[in-house]
Amino acid sequence: MRAFVAPSILAADFNNLGKEIEMINQSEADYIHCDVMDGVFVPNISFGIPVINQVKKIAEKPLDVHLMIVDPDKFIEPFVKAGASVLTVHYEACSHLHRTVQLIKSFGAKASVCLNPHTPVAVLEDIIGDLDMVLLMSVNPGFGGQQFIENTYKKVGQLRKMIDETNANCTIEVDGGINYETGKNLLDVGANVLVAGSFVFGADNPEEIISGLKSL
Ligand code: DX5
Ligand code: ZN
Repeated sequence: MRAFVAPSILAADFNNLGKEIEMINQSEADYIHCDVMDGVFVPNISFGIPVINQVKKIAEKPLDVHLMIVDPDKFIEPFVKAGASVLTVHYEACSHLHRTVQLIKSFGAKASVCLNPHTPVAVLEDIIGDLDMVLLMSVNPGFGGQQFIENTYKKVGQLRKMIDETNANCTIEVDGGINYETGKNLLDVGANVLVAGSFVFGADNPEEIISGLKSL
């Protein structure tokens, strides 16, 4: 099994969130991907610390928290305390990315940086050695259910090369429009972690979809 799988609860049934988390617990998923949106960095508002606190109480998988918020520094500590094992900030939202990455690590979480579809991977050259993960957006962040942007394959390949050449200890996660076809192609070009929202939660049998992604 080559892939790590992170179902995104943005597409879950929030009236039954506990059951959805239990489904993920039972499944072969590796992480629970939590999308936090502030209505400023992205044109949508999702959920925040109180929801993550509740999810953490019953989650048996590590929480992979994706912050789509401006000025994330002031929220790093609360999100780690709420239960984030991996905390992702957007490159485009950080003026002092190196400081933000060290801040995440200082609270004991893994540090991850996300790039929007238009941001070249080259901007990470001088920080790649400090990162535990890079998240490449394969849609414009803000909504689930969007179409995969094909240029992402090229970016994954470039990032894989950068990581291998520098011996960085960093995984590559991709987020947006992932299904069996795009997921397989992403693994082929060097991705490690697949986020999937609507493909998992829109299915009759979400657990089966998670298994399918695991065995691509
Ligand atoms: C989009 C979020 C994604 C979203 C993916 O801004 O970051 O995690 O839930 O949803 P799908 O898999 O439906 O594209
Ligand atoms: Zn996400």
